[in-house]
Amino acid sequence: MKSMKTIWGGLCLCAVLGSCTSAAPKDEAAEVKAPDKSEVVIENILTRRSIRQYKPQAVNRDTMQVILNCGINAPNGQNKQSWEVRVVDNPEFIDGLTEIFKKENPKAAEDPSFKNMFRNAPTVVFIAHDTKYDMSQIDCGLLGENMVLSAWSMGIGSCCLGSPVRFMNTNKDAAPYLKKLNFSEGYELLYCIAFGYPDEAPAAKPRSAAKIQFVD
Ligand SMILES: Cc1cc2nc3c(=O)[nH]c(=O)nc-3n(C[C@H](O)[C@H](O)[C@H](O)COP(=O)(O)O)c2cc1C
Repeated sequence: MKSMKTIWGGLCLCAVLGSCTSAAPKDEAAEVKAPDKSEVVIENILTRRSIRQYKPQAVNRDTMQVILNCGINAPNGQNKQSWEVRVVDNPEFIDGLTEIFKKENPKAAEDPSFKNMFRNAPTVVFIAHDTKYDMSQIDCGLLGENMVLSAWSMGIGSCCLGSPVRFMNTNKDAAPYLKKLNFSEGYELLYCIAFGYPDEAPAAKPRSAAKIQFVD
């Protein structure tokens, strides 16, 4: 029931947004009665949460291919596709890097639920941006959101991560791992996304509608 309430909240907001942004006259009843497809899409968006506890097995690579294909079909400036993407589901890579991370951050590993520095995920997607293109970070963000949402629709959890990338870009012992990702000249690791089969169901964090204003 709770999720239906959420869906209706979203649908009503969409109806309001639609009526404010389109000049064409519309049948009001048709606006409120959303078709099945939009209900599914909106519910997927509104129920997604960042996941930080995962089952041990890596995401099936065929499923990852679907997620990655959704990623590269994101809108992007001039269709330059100004990203580079590396997928790692090799425990040696993830655990090796985590050992270096633990030396610098011994407190993090004291948490009994700590498995690795990527919020315990078995599959990590690293995303690099083109440092010479001013819209590249936007491209990379949209790429990631497509992946996160398509993953969620298939029961795969995810968490966008900035901190591990900060560590990888600055710690000299992590350099061989960064090198192994083999990004092209001019590309820089921007963020990564943890993926895996969820082992928790966190509640939604509050959002502030006060951040939104219509300007007449
Ligand atoms: C750019 C970016 C960086 C993030 N970095 C981290 C991170 O380093 N560690 C972490 O646990 N979550 C990280 N997150 C996840 C956010 O904390 C999370 O999306 C936010 O709290 C909202 O929660 P929700 O995704 O469940 O709605 C990051 C998210 C984004 C978009």
